[in-house]
Amino acid sequence: MSTIELKNIKKIYGSGNAQTIALKGVDFEAEKGEVVLLEGPSGAGKSTLLTIMGSLQKASSGTILFNGENVTEFSDKQRDNLRLNKIGFVLQAYNLVPFLKVKEQFELVNRVKKTGNLSSDELADLVKLLGIEQLLNKYPNELSGGQMQRVAIARALYANPQVILADEPTASLDSERVKEVGALFKKLAKKQGKAVILVTHDQRLEAYCDHIYDMLDGNLTKRK
Ligand SMILES: Nc1ncnc2c1ncn2[C@@H]1O[C@H](COP(=O)(O)OP(=O)(O)OP(=O)(O)O)[C@@H](O)[C@H]1O
Ligand SMILES: [Mg+2]
Repeated sequence: MSTIELKNIKKIYGSGNAQTIALKGVDFEAEKGEVVLLEGPSGAGKSTLLTIMGSLQKASSGTILFNGENVTEFSDKQRDNLRLNKIGFVLQAYNLVPFLKVKEQFELVNRVKKTGNLSSDELADLVKLLGIEQLLNKYPNELSGGQMQRVAIARALYANPQVILADEPTASLDSERVKEVGALFKKLAKKQGKAVILVTHDQRLEAYCDHIYDMLDGNLTKRK
C-alpha cells in the first residue's frame, strides 16, 4: 500500500472567464522509504499538487489515499489531525512566525502537537546538522533566505512526520548545503522510513531521489 496515492486529481481555480485549470487529472504515488522529486516550470501546478497532497487545500475532483484511507471523505477535523500528526511542510514562503525567535518556533510545535516530536537531543543533532545553532535566539527577519530555509526544514522535521512535503527546499542554499540537505532527506527516507516529496528546479537533488515526476501545464508524467 502506498503512503500517499492520488488518482485523477483535478484542480480548477476561479470560475467563468477567470478560470484556471491547474491540475488536469493527475496520478501520483509515494511509498515510505522513498524520496520523490516533482519538477517543472513556473506555473505548471507543482505547489498546487503539493498542497492538495498535504490537505492544505481540496482538489476539485479525484481521490487521495493516505495509508489506504480515503482523505477525500475525511471531515475537516480528521483532515486537521492528519496534517498535524503525519505531515511535515516546508513551504515556499517558509511560514515562520515573525514574532518568535528560532528556538521558539520549535516550542510552538510542542504546544500545538504535544506528543511524538523529536527529543531535545535529536533536535540538537538536527540543529547542528543544518548549521542553525547560532541562530536560535534570532527572529526570522534577522535571517538570510538560506538560513530561513534551513530553520523551516528543521521545524518541519522536528514534529517527526511520516510524510515530508517540501516546496523548493533548497532554492536559497549554496551547493554544499544542497548536498547536506539532499543527504538528510535521503537518510530520513532510508533510515526512518519516511516518504519525502520535494518540489524542485534543482537538478542537484536528483542524486538523492528514487523517483522523478515532471509537471507541465497541469499534467504529471513519471520520468524515473
Ligand atoms: N490561489 C490561486 N488562485 C487562482 N489561481 C491560482 C492559485 N494558485 C495557483 N494558481 C494558478 O494555478 C497554476 C499553477 O500554479 P502553481 O502555484 O501550482 O504553480 P507552480 O508549479 O508551483 O509554480 P512556481 O514554480 O512558480 O512555484 C498557475 O496558473 C497559477 O496562476
Ligand atoms: Mg510553486
